Amino acid sequence: MHKFIAMVGTNSDESTNRKLLQYMQVHYADQAEIELMEIKGLPIFNKPENRQIPEQAQGMAAKIDAADGVIISTPEYDHSAPAVLLNALEWLSFHIQPFVDKPVMILGASYGALGTSRAQAHLRQVLDSPELRARIMPSSEFMLGHSLQAFDDDGDLVDDQQVAKLDGLFADFQMFVEITKKLKNANATTYQEVRDMDWEKL
Ligand SMILES: Cc1cc2nc3c(=O)[nH]c(=O)nc-3n(C[C@H](O)[C@H](O)[C@H](O)COP(=O)(O)O)c2cc1C
Repeated sequence: MHKFIAMVGTNSDESTNRKLLQYMQVHYADQAEIELMEIKGLPIFNKPENRQIPEQAQGMAAKIDAADGVIISTPEYDHSAPAVLLNALEWLSFHIQPFVDKPVMILGASYGALGTSRAQAHLRQVLDSPELRARIMPSSEFMLGHSLQAFDDDGDLVDDQQVAKLDGLFADFQMFVEITKKLKNANATTYQEVRDMDWEKL
């Protein structure tokens, strides 16, 4: 059974993105082990001279390292991924490489009609940067618009079409994880490139 880390893309205590990940944790419990990971509490990234990474970020990196893949659920603020999520990714790419070649599934929930389409496109670009180099599942988007109305009192998604779509995408992600394991010819050089990457020496 695959083990996934599900990153909650916000520091809000009340979050429909967290609800979406909790729904997946329960709904797919017989298919995968999904552990939620919070980004709340991380300091604002400030490029410390001693390269000391906060303990919380080190713990997060260790969990991502050990997982078969990462699921990120992002809200959308001002047509972008939230600053707190980008902040977490900055820490998780500062002289550590947990995302290199890691399969990632991007999801999003927002109050607007478009349900994070722009935030997801933005996040995809960030995860593809030279320090992160994640393996993002291609040609897939799960966007939960009007997310305040999307769940019933038990935390289940109310729209059957959304459930069917998420079921399909999650099954595809499980296959994507297996396919990605085979795409390993460049793995060693990619890691080396990311390790050697130093903006101060460009
Ligand atoms: C400053 C601000 C900007 C926002 N911009 C957007 C937006 O561009 N698109 C959108 O769909 N929702 C937008 N929203 C609504 C968010 O989707 C909503 O507040 C929430 O963050 C949804 O995620 P959550 O339930 O996980 O917190 C915005 C909210 C705030 C406070």
